[in-house]
Amino acid sequence: MLANKHILLIVGGGIAAFKSLDLVRRLREQGARVTPVLTTAGAEFVTPLSLSALSASKIYQDLFDLTDEAEMGHIELSRAADLIVVAPATADLMAKMAGGLANDLASTLLLATDKRVLIAPSMNVRMWQHPATQRNLATLQGDGVLVVGPNEGDMACGEYGPGRMAEVPEIIAAVDAALTDGPLQGKHVIVTSGPTHEPIDPVRYIANRSSGAQGTAIAAALAALGARVTFVTGPADVAPPMDVDTVQVQTAAQMLDAVTVAGAADAAVFAAAVADWHVANAGASKIKKDGSGLPKLEFAENPDILATVAQMKTGRPKLVVGFAAETDDVIANATAKRARKQCDWIVANDVSPETGIMGGAENDVTLITQDGAEDWPRMTKPEVARALAARIAEALA
Ligand code: CTP
Repeated sequence: MLANKHILLIVGGGIAAFKSLDLVRRLREQGARVTPVLTTAGAEFVTPLSLSALSASKIYQDLFDLTDEAEMGHIELSRAADLIVVAPATADLMAKMAGGLANDLASTLLLATDKRVLIAPSMNVRMWQHPATQRNLATLQGDGVLVVGPNEGDMACGEYGPGRMAEVPEIIAAVDAALTDGPLQGKHVIVTSGPTHEPIDPVRYIANRSSGAQGTAIAAALAALGARVTFVTGPADVAPPMDVDTVQVQTAAQMLDAVTVAGAADAAVFAAAVADWHVANAGASKIKKDGSGLPKLEFAENPDILATVAQMKTGRPKLVVGFAAETDDVIANATAKRARKQCDWIVANDVSPETGIMGGAENDVTLITQDGAEDWPRMTKPEVARALAARIAEALA
């Protein structure tokens, strides 16, 4: 199954490192070539000799090894593989990855790679459940990192709960899935995300509280299923995913232009919180307090990007998905919005301040389609993104 595939396996420092020895054997049985990288902590649990014997490969351990660097620089090492697998992925390694640290060979390779990364977390249950680890997990998923496990069970430390590294056959299945063309291979999807900034003058603007987290996670989830994603984003709090074509815009008008020039798409997801109005009499230079009274802003309506695309006579994407951020009568308003804008689906959510959704880590959505309203359980934004991407893949199949 994995014939001719080259896996760079990073072995972190956890008790589950012993399973990585079996992982190497099983990956090689499937035909893969495995190059192991052992962290300093990992070497406390498995020896370089056993990893080397099982992988029939040189083991890489040191960022500043002159011989290794002369043979193959660490940048090349991170790019020569088809997939990077981190097993076990400790809390420390996950934190380094999420923070973009590069202070040893493993973290440097992970920062320098342009290849897909699959992590198999393994740690004590309290470390796994700590908000810091959960935050790092959400960041990594938003960056497009694939995750397998952890499983729930008895832990080496005597506690019980989630934190056990996934079993070797589960990791092999995840490796296989990561190397197989996703269901959206060959499909082009446009995603809008983030707020827009509508200028009042060259230094001031009108904006909204959108962080761009949900749209960014959707773009990453679609790319993870193999889609070519054009990601049109306003000035968001979160960085765009790595494996998408990003177009940065400021205003609604620029967002419409970017969507229009993105070309034919199979699907389009409008997750941006587009400003409804722009300032028609925006100052060409900074408006001054010059004693002539308070400035009077005049507003003009912005183009509705979702409605424009949903109502295209030619070249309309097969599936047009809008969002409805509501504070009252969520389902009724979102259903009416779907009909008014003529999109296929609406992802409706309640953005009342007490829900903590706007700018928060979780989302509570109802999917409105031609068949009615489907209430989804409250999930993290990356989980909502993956569920939506899977539905889009089904619809385009
Ligand atoms: N949208 C868009 N262009 C706009 C306004 C909204 O593409 N100028 C899209 C959003 O990306 C979202 C959907 O339309 O997918 C719903 O936006 P929302 O602002 O909630 O709805 P409105 O049409 O503005 O209706 P209202 O303000 O009455 O709730």
